[in-house]
Amino acid sequence: MPIYLDHNATTPLDPRVLNAMLPYLSGPYGNASSVHRYGRAARDAIEAARVQVAALVGAEASEVSFTSGATESNNLAIKGLTEGRAPTRLLYGATEHPAILEAAESRRAHGWGVETIAIDAAGLVDWPAFQTQSSRGPVRVAALMLANNETGVIQDCARAARMVHAAGALFHVDAVQAAGKLPFSFAETGADLMCLSAHKLYGPKGVGALLVKSHVELTTQLHGGGQERGLRGGTENLAAIVGFGAACELAAAEVGQRIARWTELTTRLETGLRALSGITIFGDGSPRLSNTAQFGVAGWEGEALLMALDRKGIAVSSGSACASGTGEPSHVLLGMGWDRDTAFSAIRVSLGVATTDAEIDRFLAVLGDLRLQVAA
Ligand SMILES: Cc1ncc(COP(=O)(O)O)c(C=O)c1O
Repeated sequence: MPIYLDHNATTPLDPRVLNAMLPYLSGPYGNASSVHRYGRAARDAIEAARVQVAALVGAEASEVSFTSGATESNNLAIKGLTEGRAPTRLLYGATEHPAILEAAESRRAHGWGVETIAIDAAGLVDWPAFQTQSSRGPVRVAALMLANNETGVIQDCARAARMVHAAGALFHVDAVQAAGKLPFSFAETGADLMCLSAHKLYGPKGVGALLVKSHVELTTQLHGGGQERGLRGGTENLAAIVGFGAACELAAAEVGQRIARWTELTTRLETGLRALSGITIFGDGSPRLSNTAQFGVAGWEGEALLMALDRKGIAVSSGSACASGTGEPSHVLLGMGWDRDTAFSAIRVSLGVATTDAEIDRFLAVLGDLRLQVAA
Protein backbone atom coordinates (compact mmCIF):
# COMPACT_ATOMS: atom_id res chain seq x y z
CA MET A 1 0.00 0.00 0.00
CA PRO A 2 1.37 3.44 -0.90
CA ILE A 3 1.94 5.79 2.02
CA TYR A 4 0.89 9.45 1.82
CA LEU A 5 2.89 11.76 4.09
CA ASP A 6 2.25 15.06 2.28
CA HIS A 7 -0.86 16.40 4.01
CA ASN A 8 0.42 19.99 4.12
CA ALA A 9 0.25 19.95 0.30
CA THR A 10 -3.33 18.76 0.37
CA THR A 11 -5.56 16.39 2.31
CA PRO A 12 -8.01 13.73 1.12
CA LEU A 13 -11.68 14.67 1.22
CA ASP A 14 -13.21 13.42 4.48
CA PRO A 15 -16.06 11.01 3.51
CA ARG A 16 -18.36 12.93 5.89
CA VAL A 17 -17.54 16.13 3.97
CA LEU A 18 -18.30 14.38 0.69
CA ASN A 19 -21.67 13.27 2.11
CA ALA A 20 -22.47 16.85 3.06
CA MET A 21 -21.58 18.03 -0.46
CA LEU A 22 -23.30 15.35 -2.54
CA PRO A 23 -26.87 16.67 -2.22
CA TYR A 24 -25.66 20.04 -3.56
CA LEU A 25 -24.14 18.39 -6.63
CA SER A 26 -27.12 16.23 -7.45
CA GLY A 27 -30.00 18.21 -5.92
CA PRO A 28 -30.46 21.94 -5.12
CA TYR A 29 -28.85 23.86 -7.95
CA GLY A 30 -30.18 27.37 -7.52
CA ASN A 31 -28.05 30.48 -7.85
CA ALA A 32 -27.68 31.99 -4.38
CA SER A 33 -28.34 35.45 -5.86
CA SER A 34 -31.78 34.44 -7.16
CA VAL A 35 -34.73 35.53 -5.05
CA HIS A 36 -36.97 32.50 -5.74
CA ARG A 37 -37.04 29.35 -3.62
CA TYR A 38 -34.20 27.69 -5.55
CA GLY A 39 -31.98 30.67 -4.90
CA ARG A 40 -33.03 30.90 -1.28
CA ALA A 41 -32.13 27.24 -0.67
CA ALA A 42 -28.63 27.86 -2.06
CA ARG A 43 -28.30 31.07 -0.02
CA ASP A 44 -29.32 29.27 3.18
CA ALA A 45 -26.70 26.57 2.60
CA ILE A 46 -23.98 29.17 1.99
CA GLU A 47 -24.92 31.15 5.09
CA ALA A 48 -24.89 27.97 7.20
CA ALA A 49 -21.39 27.18 5.91
CA ARG A 50 -20.30 30.74 6.69
CA VAL A 51 -21.32 30.19 10.32
CA GLN A 52 -19.36 26.89 10.42
CA VAL A 53 -16.20 28.47 8.98
CA ALA A 54 -16.43 31.44 11.33
CA ALA A 55 -16.92 29.13 14.32
CA LEU A 56 -13.66 27.26 13.66
CA VAL A 57 -11.70 30.46 14.32
CA GLY A 58 -14.07 32.23 16.73
CA ALA A 59 -14.98 34.87 14.12
CA GLU A 60 -18.26 36.53 13.22
CA ALA A 61 -20.01 35.04 10.18
CA SER A 62 -20.19 38.58 8.76
CA GLU A 63 -16.35 38.64 8.68
CA VAL A 64 -16.11 35.63 6.30
CA SER A 65 -15.97 36.03 2.50
CA PHE A 66 -15.68 32.90 0.37
CA THR A 67 -13.03 32.78 -2.37
CA SER A 68 -11.50 30.14 -4.65
CA GLY A 69 -8.78 29.38 -2.08
CA ALA A 70 -5.99 30.97 -0.10
CA THR A 71 -4.02 32.11 -3.15
CA GLU A 72 -6.95 34.30 -4.13
CA SER A 73 -7.52 35.38 -0.51
CA ASN A 74 -3.89 36.44 -0.09
CA ASN A 75 -3.95 38.33 -3.39
CA LEU A 76 -7.20 40.04 -2.43
CA ALA A 77 -5.74 41.06 0.93
CA ILE A 78 -2.46 42.46 -0.38
CA LYS A 79 -3.77 44.04 -3.57
CA GLY A 80 -7.10 45.11 -2.08
CA LEU A 81 -5.35 46.99 0.74
CA THR A 82 -2.87 48.77 -1.50
CA GLU A 83 -4.72 49.51 -4.73
CA GLY A 84 -5.68 53.13 -5.29
CA ARG A 85 -3.69 54.38 -2.29
CA ALA A 86 -0.65 56.58 -2.12
CA PRO A 87 2.19 54.03 -1.85
CA THR A 88 3.97 53.62 1.47
CA ARG A 89 5.51 50.36 2.72
CA LEU A 90 4.40 46.76 2.79
CA LEU A 91 6.11 44.11 4.97
CA TYR A 92 5.94 40.31 4.73
CA GLY A 93 7.74 37.47 6.52
CA ALA A 94 10.77 36.01 4.73
CA THR A 95 9.26 32.52 5.01
CA GLU A 96 5.76 33.34 3.67
CA HIS A 97 4.00 31.23 1.04
CA PRO A 98 4.50 32.37 -2.59
CA ALA A 99 0.87 33.56 -2.64
CA ILE A 100 1.92 36.35 -0.25
CA LEU A 101 5.43 36.80 -1.50
CA GLU A 102 4.48 37.19 -5.17
CA ALA A 103 1.43 39.33 -4.44
CA ALA A 104 3.56 41.65 -2.28
CA GLU A 105 6.41 41.82 -4.78
CA SER A 106 3.92 42.74 -7.54
CA ARG A 107 3.27 45.99 -5.65
CA ARG A 108 6.77 47.31 -6.34
CA ALA A 109 5.67 48.18 -9.89
CA HIS A 110 2.98 50.38 -8.29
CA GLY A 111 5.50 52.36 -6.26
CA TRP A 112 5.25 50.49 -2.97
CA GLY A 113 8.28 49.87 -0.77
CA VAL A 114 8.26 46.10 -0.24
CA GLU A 115 10.37 44.67 2.59
CA THR A 116 10.78 41.24 4.13
CA ILE A 117 10.46 40.72 7.88
CA ALA A 118 13.60 38.91 9.08
CA ILE A 119 13.10 35.36 10.34
CA ASP A 120 15.76 33.72 12.50
CA ALA A 121 17.36 30.25 12.21
CA ALA A 122 14.66 28.84 14.50
CA GLY A 123 11.97 30.00 12.04
CA LEU A 124 10.71 32.76 14.35
CA VAL A 125 10.40 36.51 13.78
CA ASP A 126 13.56 38.44 14.66
CA TRP A 127 11.68 40.66 17.12
CA PRO A 128 14.23 43.47 17.67
CA ALA A 129 14.69 43.82 13.90
CA PHE A 130 10.91 43.84 13.35
CA GLN A 131 10.40 46.45 16.05
CA THR A 132 12.91 48.77 14.38
CA GLN A 133 11.56 48.07 10.90
CA SER A 134 7.90 48.60 11.73
CA SER A 135 8.52 51.90 13.51
CA ARG A 136 10.73 53.31 10.72
CA GLY A 137 7.97 55.11 8.80
CA PRO A 138 4.47 54.54 7.49
CA VAL A 139 3.43 50.94 6.73
CA ARG A 140 0.10 49.99 5.11
CA VAL A 141 0.11 46.26 5.79
CA ALA A 142 2.31 43.58 7.34
CA ALA A 143 1.71 39.89 6.56
CA LEU A 144 2.85 36.92 8.63
CA MET A 145 1.75 33.31 8.58
CA LEU A 146 0.51 31.65 11.76
CA ALA A 147 2.15 28.31 10.93
CA ASN A 148 4.70 27.67 8.22
CA ASN A 149 3.77 25.16 5.52
CA GLU A 150 7.30 23.67 5.34
CA THR A 151 8.74 23.71 8.86
CA GLY A 152 5.43 23.91 10.75
CA VAL A 153 6.93 26.66 12.96
CA ILE A 154 4.21 28.65 14.74
CA GLN A 155 4.59 32.44 15.04
CA ASP A 156 3.47 34.59 17.95
CA CYS A 157 1.01 36.57 15.83
CA ALA A 158 -0.46 38.46 18.78
CA ARG A 159 2.97 39.92 19.54
CA ALA A 160 3.48 40.88 15.90
CA ALA A 161 -0.01 42.42 15.79
CA ARG A 162 0.84 44.78 18.66
CA MET A 163 3.90 46.08 16.80
CA VAL A 164 2.05 46.32 13.48
CA HIS A 165 -0.83 48.23 15.02
CA ALA A 166 1.53 50.54 16.92
CA ALA A 167 2.95 51.44 13.49
CA GLY A 168 -0.58 52.33 12.32
CA ALA A 169 -0.62 49.42 9.86
CA LEU A 170 -3.02 46.56 9.19
CA PHE A 171 -2.07 42.95 9.94
CA HIS A 172 -2.83 40.05 7.58
CA VAL A 173 -2.37 36.46 8.78
CA ASP A 174 -2.16 33.43 6.48
CA ALA A 175 -3.66 30.78 8.75
CA VAL A 176 -4.00 28.09 6.07
CA GLN A 177 -1.71 25.55 7.71
CA ALA A 178 -2.80 26.29 11.26
CA ALA A 179 -6.53 25.79 10.70
CA GLY A 180 -7.64 22.38 11.88
CA LYS A 181 -4.20 21.64 13.34
CA LEU A 182 -4.11 24.20 16.12
CA PRO A 183 -6.87 25.83 18.15
CA PHE A 184 -6.73 29.62 17.72
CA SER A 185 -9.08 32.52 17.27
CA PHE A 186 -9.15 35.32 14.71
CA ALA A 187 -9.41 37.86 17.55
CA GLU A 188 -6.52 36.42 19.61
CA THR A 189 -4.09 36.63 16.70
CA GLY A 190 -4.80 40.35 16.48
CA ALA A 191 -5.25 40.01 12.73
CA ASP A 192 -7.33 42.46 10.71
CA LEU A 193 -7.48 39.98 7.84
CA MET A 194 -6.91 36.23 7.75
CA CYS A 195 -7.05 33.54 5.06
CA LEU A 196 -8.11 29.89 5.18
CA SER A 197 -8.24 27.09 2.59
CA ALA A 198 -10.58 24.07 2.63
CA HIS A 199 -8.31 21.49 1.00
CA LYS A 200 -5.75 21.67 3.81
CA LEU A 201 -8.34 20.50 6.34
CA TYR A 202 -10.09 17.56 4.60
CA GLY A 203 -12.39 19.79 2.54
CA PRO A 204 -12.58 20.20 -1.25
CA LYS A 205 -10.02 21.98 -3.40
CA GLY A 206 -10.78 25.35 -4.96
CA VAL A 207 -12.55 27.02 -2.04
CA GLY A 208 -11.25 29.17 0.80
CA ALA A 209 -12.05 32.31 2.71
CA LEU A 210 -10.77 35.75 3.54
CA LEU A 211 -11.79 36.99 6.98
CA VAL A 212 -11.94 40.75 7.20
CA LYS A 213 -12.64 42.91 10.26
CA SER A 214 -15.39 45.48 9.72
CA HIS A 215 -13.03 48.49 10.00
CA VAL A 216 -10.88 47.33 7.05
CA GLU A 217 -11.40 48.99 3.65
CA LEU A 218 -10.59 46.58 0.86
CA THR A 219 -10.82 47.11 -2.91
CA THR A 220 -12.31 44.16 -4.76
CA GLN A 221 -10.15 42.38 -7.29
CA LEU A 222 -13.03 40.55 -9.00
CA HIS A 223 -15.62 42.97 -10.31
CA GLY A 224 -18.94 41.43 -11.21
CA GLY A 225 -22.23 40.74 -9.55
CA GLY A 226 -21.14 42.06 -6.16
CA GLN A 227 -21.30 38.71 -4.39
CA GLU A 228 -19.65 38.23 -0.99
CA ARG A 229 -20.55 41.74 0.14
CA GLY A 230 -18.98 43.22 -2.97
CA LEU A 231 -15.56 41.75 -2.18
CA ARG A 232 -15.62 38.93 -4.69
CA GLY A 233 -17.90 38.87 -7.72
CA GLY A 234 -18.88 35.52 -9.22
CA THR A 235 -21.55 32.89 -8.60
CA GLU A 236 -20.67 31.02 -5.40
CA ASN A 237 -19.30 27.47 -5.65
CA LEU A 238 -22.21 26.05 -3.67
CA ALA A 239 -21.19 22.41 -3.08
CA ALA A 240 -17.58 23.36 -2.34
CA ILE A 241 -18.65 26.01 0.17
CA VAL A 242 -20.95 23.50 1.87
CA GLY A 243 -18.00 21.07 2.02
CA PHE A 244 -15.72 23.75 3.44
CA GLY A 245 -18.26 24.44 6.19
CA ALA A 246 -18.60 20.74 7.02
CA ALA A 247 -14.80 20.33 7.12
CA CYS A 248 -14.49 23.28 9.51
CA GLU A 249 -17.17 21.89 11.81
CA LEU A 250 -15.36 18.53 11.95
CA ALA A 251 -12.01 20.22 12.50
CA ALA A 252 -13.39 22.26 15.40
CA ALA A 253 -14.79 19.12 17.05
CA GLU A 254 -11.75 16.91 16.43
CA VAL A 255 -8.70 19.18 16.61
CA GLY A 256 -7.86 18.07 20.17
CA GLN A 257 -7.75 14.38 19.31
CA ARG A 258 -5.90 15.07 16.06
CA ILE A 259 -3.17 16.95 17.94
CA ALA A 260 -2.86 14.20 20.56
CA ARG A 261 -2.43 11.53 17.87
CA TRP A 262 -0.02 13.59 15.73
CA THR A 263 2.10 14.39 18.77
CA GLU A 264 2.58 10.65 19.41
CA LEU A 265 3.35 9.95 15.76
CA THR A 266 5.75 12.88 15.37
CA THR A 267 7.58 11.85 18.53
CA ARG A 268 7.93 8.36 17.04
CA LEU A 269 9.13 9.83 13.73
CA GLU A 270 11.62 12.28 15.24
CA THR A 271 12.97 9.72 17.73
CA GLY A 272 13.66 7.48 14.73
CA LEU A 273 15.21 10.35 12.77
CA ARG A 274 17.50 11.31 15.64
CA ALA A 275 18.77 7.73 15.73
CA LEU A 276 20.01 8.11 12.13
CA SER A 277 23.16 10.11 11.45
CA GLY A 278 23.28 13.27 9.34
CA ILE A 279 19.73 14.49 10.02
CA THR A 280 18.98 18.17 10.75
CA ILE A 281 15.43 18.90 11.89
CA PHE A 282 14.48 22.46 10.89
CA GLY A 283 12.72 24.58 13.48
CA ASP A 284 13.77 22.04 16.13
CA GLY A 285 13.00 23.49 19.55
CA SER A 286 10.53 26.08 18.19
CA PRO A 287 6.78 25.72 18.66
CA ARG A 288 5.69 23.64 15.64
CA LEU A 289 2.56 22.05 14.19
CA SER A 290 2.19 18.58 15.64
CA ASN A 291 1.83 16.99 12.18
CA THR A 292 4.88 18.53 10.45
CA ALA A 293 8.59 17.71 10.36
CA GLN A 294 11.01 19.13 7.80
CA PHE A 295 14.57 17.89 7.90
CA GLY A 296 17.79 17.79 5.91
CA VAL A 297 19.47 14.48 5.10
CA ALA A 298 23.24 14.79 4.63
CA GLY A 299 24.46 13.34 1.35
CA TRP A 300 21.08 13.60 -0.37
CA GLU A 301 19.34 16.26 -2.40
CA GLY A 302 15.75 16.56 -1.24
CA GLU A 303 14.36 16.13 -4.78
CA ALA A 304 16.38 12.94 -5.35
CA LEU A 305 15.34 11.56 -1.97
CA LEU A 306 11.71 12.39 -2.71
CA MET A 307 11.94 10.41 -5.97
CA ALA A 308 13.70 7.49 -4.26
CA LEU A 309 10.98 7.41 -1.60
CA ASP A 310 8.31 7.66 -4.29
CA ARG A 311 9.75 4.58 -6.00
CA LYS A 312 9.26 2.80 -2.65
CA GLY A 313 5.63 3.98 -2.53
CA ILE A 314 6.08 6.81 -0.01
CA ALA A 315 4.90 10.35 -0.88
CA VAL A 316 6.64 13.25 0.87
CA SER A 317 7.61 16.74 -0.28
CA SER A 318 10.96 18.45 -0.67
CA GLY A 319 9.48 21.76 0.47
CA SER A 320 6.22 23.35 -0.47
CA ALA A 321 4.43 21.58 -3.34
CA CYS A 322 4.33 24.90 -5.20
CA ALA A 323 8.11 25.42 -5.03
CA SER A 324 9.16 21.85 -5.74
CA GLY A 325 10.24 21.13 -9.26
CA THR A 326 11.71 24.64 -9.63
CA GLY A 327 15.28 23.42 -9.13
CA GLU A 328 15.65 26.08 -6.44
CA PRO A 329 16.17 25.29 -2.76
CA SER A 330 13.40 26.14 -0.32
CA HIS A 331 13.12 29.93 0.11
CA VAL A 332 11.80 29.19 3.60
CA LEU A 333 15.07 27.59 4.68
CA LEU A 334 17.13 30.24 2.91
CA GLY A 335 14.97 32.85 4.65
CA MET A 336 15.89 31.23 8.00
CA GLY A 337 19.55 31.66 7.09
CA TRP A 338 20.41 28.06 6.14
CA ASP A 339 23.01 27.62 3.40
CA ARG A 340 21.95 26.42 -0.08
CA ASP A 341 23.38 22.88 0.33
CA THR A 342 21.49 22.28 3.57
CA ALA A 343 18.34 23.82 2.09
CA PHE A 344 18.69 21.54 -0.97
CA SER A 345 18.80 18.46 1.28
CA ALA A 346 15.37 19.12 2.82
CA ILE A 347 12.33 16.91 2.78
CA ARG A 348 9.03 17.50 4.54
CA VAL A 349 6.86 14.86 6.16
CA SER A 350 3.34 15.98 7.05
CA LEU A 351 0.97 13.58 8.78
CA GLY A 352 -2.77 13.26 8.35
CA VAL A 353 -5.67 12.01 10.44
CA ALA A 354 -5.30 8.49 9.03
CA THR A 355 -1.49 8.18 9.39
CA THR A 356 -0.50 5.05 11.35
CA ASP A 357 2.45 3.91 13.50
CA ALA A 358 3.19 1.27 10.87
CA GLU A 359 3.49 3.94 8.15
CA ILE A 360 5.96 5.93 10.24
CA ASP A 361 7.98 2.77 10.93
CA ARG A 362 8.01 1.88 7.23
CA PHE A 363 9.12 5.42 6.33
CA LEU A 364 11.96 5.25 8.87
CA ALA A 365 13.07 1.83 7.65
CA VAL A 366 13.14 2.95 4.00
CA LEU A 367 14.93 6.19 4.88
CA GLY A 368 17.48 4.20 6.91
CA ASP A 369 18.15 1.92 3.90
CA LEU A 370 18.58 4.87 1.58
CA ARG A 371 20.99 6.50 4.06
CA LEU A 372 23.06 3.29 4.08
CA GLN A 373 23.26 3.40 0.26
CA VAL A 374 24.85 6.86 0.55
CA ALA A 375 27.28 5.68 3.22
CA ALA A 376 28.27 2.56 1.17
C1 LIG B 1 0.57 28.70 3.90
C2 LIG B 1 -0.18 28.60 2.62
N1 LIG B 1 -0.78 29.69 2.13
C3 LIG B 1 -1.47 29.65 0.97
C4 LIG B 1 -1.59 28.48 0.25
C5 LIG B 1 -2.37 28.50 -1.04
O1 LIG B 1 -3.62 27.91 -0.81
P1 LIG B 1 -4.58 27.45 -2.01
O2 LIG B 1 -4.06 26.13 -2.47
O3 LIG B 1 -5.93 27.34 -1.36
O4 LIG B 1 -4.55 28.50 -3.06
C6 LIG B 1 -0.99 27.32 0.73
C7 LIG B 1 -1.06 26.06 -0.04
O5 LIG B 1 -0.06 25.43 -0.32
C8 LIG B 1 -0.26 27.38 1.95
O6 LIG B 1 0.34 26.30 2.45
